[in-house]
Amino acid sequence: MSNTILVGAQWGDEGKGKIIDVLTDQADIVVRTQGGNNAGHTVHIGGQKYVLHLVPSGILRKKKMCVIGNGVVVDPVNLVEEIEGLRKLGIKSGGNLFLSETAHLVFPYHAELDAQREILKGKNKIGTTKRGIGPAYGDKAARTGLRVIDLVNPERFKQKLEFKIKENNEILKAFGAKPLSFKQVHQAYRAAGDYLKPFVANTVVLLHDAVRRGDNILFEGAQGTFLDIDHGTYPFVTSSNTTAGGACTGSGIPPHRMDRVVGVMKAYTTRVGEGPLPTENSHIADMLHAMGREFGATTGRPRRCGWFDSVATRHACMVNGIDQLAVTNVDGLDTVDTIKVCIAYRVGAKRYDYVPNDIELLARCQPVYAEFPGWLKPTHDVRKWKDLPTKTRNYLKAIAELTGAKLAIASVGPGREQTIFV
Ligand code: GDP
Ligand code: IMO
Ligand code: MG
Repeated sequence: MSNTILVGAQWGDEGKGKIIDVLTDQADIVVRTQGGNNAGHTVHIGGQKYVLHLVPSGILRKKKMCVIGNGVVVDPVNLVEEIEGLRKLGIKSGGNLFLSETAHLVFPYHAELDAQREILKGKNKIGTTKRGIGPAYGDKAARTGLRVIDLVNPERFKQKLEFKIKENNEILKAFGAKPLSFKQVHQAYRAAGDYLKPFVANTVVLLHDAVRRGDNILFEGAQGTFLDIDHGTYPFVTSSNTTAGGACTGSGIPPHRMDRVVGVMKAYTTRVGEGPLPTENSHIADMLHAMGREFGATTGRPRRCGWFDSVATRHACMVNGIDQLAVTNVDGLDTVDTIKVCIAYRVGAKRYDYVPNDIELLARCQPVYAEFPGWLKPTHDVRKWKDLPTKTRNYLKAIAELTGAKLAIASVGPGREQTIFV
């Protein structure tokens, strides 16, 4: 029996979807525990590309159970669209997908407030996905949110939604934004509620039954360590705990039932949205964008890119308790002559071996680099560790050692089969 938490060790988009798909082979259940449809997890199987937002990536394999846990914030209209989109691609969700009764709901006023707050912030904006994630978690913390259990109770839902629309329309008017029509929102959400009713379950009880059976559970993290509401580069973060602990609170499975933590990281660094990125480098960004890579899976925005930052991944290893590493996008560096890795930060004469909490200080951090010779060979077709160029192996071993965890997987392409077990 093995319960595995998979987390992003950088700023999101590390290739978690691909690694989840690979590890689902060994799992019985895949659980999303935090975030919402701000996530975009890409999986390539046999020439077909799938982008998952709320549905766990495990849905792509037959006979696996998928759970959207209590810690996730769910836009039900969007979830129905996603399920239907998957159905059109031949992926069925029915009897294999469960939605927690206590997951909070995302409404159009959350998305509108998200957008309005960003406009008001101007140049200090976070660069959110505008999916309403922050305001939805805000309502949850303020104890004024609506949950899935309310959505499937028509009378209660109507009453609560009426109040929420009234309240939020006052706020939207103050922003100079258009108020929402209760009727329209109610109609769309009730229709989604009826559609989703068969999926709704007490997922805590369901998961504990699975634990008792000895099922293997895989917890699919969304976003990444430095987008964590507590441990990230606040305020340039998302509104949930993206680190390993979020898998427990977001599912109801306690810490001592967890067996290992897998950290996914790219062989370089990317970030989408605002906030400090110490190793940002326009040459790498231009190179990757010219290859058609590193555009956001949810918003299509070009991702900011930079060298691998081992100060950051070491920190991620610490807060998540990462046991094993999966390094993705190794092939992204195939054409690079000299590869740099950040091993410390420097501000004036002071050297930092950890990520400073002061965001202004972090923004001033200059990377101290170690250099590695590039392998200058394509790696896409390599399937065995011993067949990777020696310089690639040395680079991967070095970044794993600097991070402080065991290298378990190297990924050399987006496809399921482009995976090397170390
Ligand atoms: P996630 O949010 O962590 O699941 O990552 P995204 O799907 O948003 O972004 C990762 C991108 O990298 C996607 O386009 C994946 O298809 C792609 N990808 C993942 N692993 C590899 C790899 O090893 N090589 C290449 N070339 N692409 C990869
Ligand atoms: P996956 O799961 C990368 C970023 C946004 C923004 C910040 C806050 O695909 O790795 P939000 O809409 O959550 O309030 O935005 O977080 N962000 C992500 N960046 N990958 C994601 O998810 C992200 N989800 C949110 O760009 O900087
Ligand atoms: Mg993504």
